[in-house]
Amino acid sequence: MESCRVPHHVLLSFTLIFIFISIPVPASAEDTVQVKFNQRAVLPCKRRCSGEAKWTLFSNRSVVVAQCDQTSCRSSDGYKMSHDQYLKGDLSLTITAADYSKRNRYTCVCDGDDIEHVLLSINPMKSSLHIYPGEDLQLELHVSERVEVTYRSKYSGDLYGEQICSVERRSLTCTDKYTWRTSLTNTLLTLRGIKVSDGGVYSVQDSVNKEDLHIYSVSVRDLDSGAKRASTMWMIVLLLLLVVGAV
Ligand SMILES: *[C@@H]1O[C@H](CO)[C@@H](O)[C@H](O)[C@H]1NC(C)=O
Repeated sequence: MESCRVPHHVLLSFTLIFIFISIPVPASAEDTVQVKFNQRAVLPCKRRCSGEAKWTLFSNRSVVVAQCDQTSCRSSDGYKMSHDQYLKGDLSLTITAADYSKRNRYTCVCDGDDIEHVLLSINPMKSSLHIYPGEDLQLELHVSERVEVTYRSKYSGDLYGEQICSVERRSLTCTDKYTWRTSLTNTLLTLRGIKVSDGGVYSVQDSVNKEDLHIYSVSVRDLDSGAKRASTMWMIVLLLLLVVGAV
């Protein structure tokens, strides 16, 4: 009998261990809110809070973007907590326009306890550009820190492309091939003297979590091949006229 029970105990312990491992700590669930650029975002946090409720940056708890207590709420520019909702047990944070400066992981805190960690993520913007050889290509990076640009040629089988430039604290660093052709003005990256071989996909990425901010599909109009095509057309027309004339 005794030998029969032991495996049950072992099984039960394993089950309990498994449950503890697989269930995240309920006090700090993880969430992602994804919105379009400049749209309103609501970061959810449901908890009846009798004292001070606040939202901080996950990376720096001393940055409080909004807070409420029994009497009132206060918030930084672009952030909002509602006192009515706070009284009803809804500590959600509203971000009025989700621009790139607001991309962050935020923590909802009630009386010093973490309730939620919520990541605000913005859908990447997409643009198609058609340019002529010799023109400049301008890429909006949106931020001036922790951002990089990768390039994938139309003809390359490489799925991710190669990093060509990165920006850290407003300073631009590019690979040798690009250094002499590139410049940065605020958050605008300029690549001078575009060639047909520069066509392809340029991705502006957050260099920390490799999230795309803006994807540019660039096609370079090949003037030469256009001219060639036109002259071939004229040759055919001329030949046809000759044939018709001969008949
Ligand atoms: C956190 O934010 C505060 C206030 O903006 C700042 O003074 C402090 O240097 C920051 N700490 C870190 C580690 O970035």
